[in-house]
Amino acid sequence: MSGLISAFPAPAPQWWSKDTVAVVTGANKGIGFEIVRQLAKEGITVVLTARDATRGAEAIESLKKQGFQNVNFHTLDVGSQESIDALAEWLRTTYGGIDILINNAGILDDPNGVNLEIAKSVLATNYFAVKNVTKTLLPLLRDDTPGGARVIVVASRLGQLKGLPNKDYVTTLTDREHITEDFVDSFVNKYLVDVANGNHNKGDWPDLTKLGWEAPVETYAVSKIAVIAYVSALHNTLVARHEGEKKINVFSSCPGHVRTDLAPNGIKTVEEGADTPVWLALHSPKEGLGKLYGERTILDF
Ligand SMILES: NC(=O)c1ccc[n+]([C@@H]2O[C@H](COP(=O)([O-])OP(=O)(O)OC[C@H]3O[C@@H](n4cnc5c(N)ncnc54)[C@H](OP(=O)(O)O)[C@@H]3O)[C@@H](O)[C@H]2O)c1
Repeated sequence: MSGLISAFPAPAPQWWSKDTVAVVTGANKGIGFEIVRQLAKEGITVVLTARDATRGAEAIESLKKQGFQNVNFHTLDVGSQESIDALAEWLRTTYGGIDILINNAGILDDPNGVNLEIAKSVLATNYFAVKNVTKTLLPLLRDDTPGGARVIVVASRLGQLKGLPNKDYVTTLTDREHITEDFVDSFVNKYLVDVANGNHNKGDWPDLTKLGWEAPVETYAVSKIAVIAYVSALHNTLVARHEGEKKINVFSSCPGHVRTDLAPNGIKTVEEGADTPVWLALHSPKEGLGKLYGERTILDF
């Protein structure tokens, strides 16, 4: 597997230009907005997407006022396949293809605790939507992006396996070379069954209060464990395809505890939080394919 990857030529130090196209989800505010700004600063053409057209237009307006003309907007509700398809068609007709996809949109658990409706909604946005957006846009990723096209998922350290008590799941999820999307789906669906039956708090699922977290983030942690595992599974699928001509580099990334509407007590700035996803998109380190990064360093799963 690694032999196949290392056969790819190293990318040139600055391979990108105004013809490079990046798409960022959930980018009207927070870390996503800052990822757009940092990529635009590099001279890349960036498509800022947001589910709300007004909030998206305001975000674009703010970037244009800062001097960035190389930004464009399209609506995207990551939870709607119709919306994802409309974006894909627009990208195809407007740019022909894309070089970088950054799956950033995400939501947190309800502060009042876990219930089935909220759990479904968090997993729909943070896990299933990442898969649907990626699967739909994968054919648009260009064959000739120097060093390979890139897919980055903004995940979280809360998705590291040290927060997962069920040792059987930990064993299977640690075996990254053999992990599959079907297994990750079954993991997520079992959690939803346990929530539906009231069995989610019987010791199998993350209880991050034991790791010092005060906020109820159980479903969020499951969603991030799943999406980090999905990145490894997708990497395995892409390598197994033996599509040597179409190189797609996938990574997950934790931005750190960043002060945004999602985490008002965060300690990092959005500039700091956007740094690693942007660095991965630009530099795509080949030793980290399918892996989780934080502060430009590979983290344990
Ligand atoms: N902040 C942190 O400390 C931290 C730590 C680890 C990981 N993360 C991850 O970083 C990412 C960005 O979070 P953030 O802190 O920047 O939060 P944020 O400021 O709340 O931004 C979240 C973004 O996601 C968008 N979004 C939510 N549901 C969507 C949907 N169905 N379709 C399209 N967009 C949707 C929001 O749009 P609306 O404005 O329309 O709601 C917003 O633009 C998330 O994946 C989060 O899990 C954050």
